[in-house]
Amino acid sequence: MADFKRHRRLRNSPVMRSFVKETILKTDDLVYPLFVVEGDNDRNEVSSMPGVFQISLDHLDKEIDELLSLGIPSVLLFGVPLDKDETGSGAYDQEGIVQKAIRQIKQKTSDLLIIADTCLCEYTSHGHCGVIHNGDVDNDASLPLHVKTAISQAEAGADIIAPSNMMDGFVAEIRKGLDEAGFENVPVMSYAVKYASAFYGPFRDAADSTPQFGDRKTYQMDPANRLEAMREAQSDIEEGADFLIVKPALSYMDIIRDVRNSHQVPVVAYNVSGEYSMVKAASINGWIDEKAIVLEKLTSMKRAGADIIITYFAKDVAKWLREE
Ligand code: PBG
Repeated sequence: MADFKRHRRLRNSPVMRSFVKETILKTDDLVYPLFVVEGDNDRNEVSSMPGVFQISLDHLDKEIDELLSLGIPSVLLFGVPLDKDETGSGAYDQEGIVQKAIRQIKQKTSDLLIIADTCLCEYTSHGHCGVIHNGDVDNDASLPLHVKTAISQAEAGADIIAPSNMMDGFVAEIRKGLDEAGFENVPVMSYAVKYASAFYGPFRDAADSTPQFGDRKTYQMDPANRLEAMREAQSDIEEGADFLIVKPALSYMDIIRDVRNSHQVPVVAYNVSGEYSMVKAASINGWIDEKAIVLEKLTSMKRAGADIIITYFAKDVAKWLREE
């Protein structure tokens, strides 16, 4: 008898491999980000994100039909307004683009969970996620605007509020605001652990939200830090977060695992724009097998501890999983 372990015993046929498979990626786990743009008859492909479109409301019903037919359970909404101002007032306008989109989707279906991204950067003339005082984002002055945004999204019918602004106290204040407005049953999916990442570059083309000066390093986290991620996740849980997002995903698998091990709420991995664009570019060049790479990446995010994955590949994945 050999004095070594025969690991290959459990790999010797497709049915055996499937029998011992530890991680299963499902369409049910996916969230599809959607960019809704003000104006008519627009379906603009984002140049740095082939296959991703900014769509106007007259194209929205068709888009929703497609997602429903693919069995995708959830969308994450971002608004691209025509006008911006210093305080991002389009974000909390009851007639704002996201509020309209939410009402339109709700009128059509209750089978899709609508997650509203709660941030100001797409709506501010300076592109930052709050109001500016003395050249920096003023934390406490920005909070009431995020609260107003969240309440207006809940009033429009959002099922989940996802604040991505990284102000201190945003979960506590938004939770309090939602409760006081009668939305105690609307959960908060916090972008708890959000790094100041170069992987957001293509998104800023899609959402037209590039900061006009400086960067986001005074509010988003340093990619070098791990303990800081634990502190951010902990405080958001204490403040009432129902879900914790780790963002980006691919370069932060260790953080996904740490958050999974330390908290009992669903963990969400955001497979961000730059992660999408890299795969797309290589695949358009014929350098990689797109389907195999994407399924491997997303399965790895689940193995790392993610329960839910936000991804621009959601439609492709739903189709591929159906083929399997
Ligand atoms: C808004 C927001 C951003 C992303 C999601 N919400 C951009 C940013 O923080 O600059 C990035 C998503 C992606 O890259 O796919 N604050």
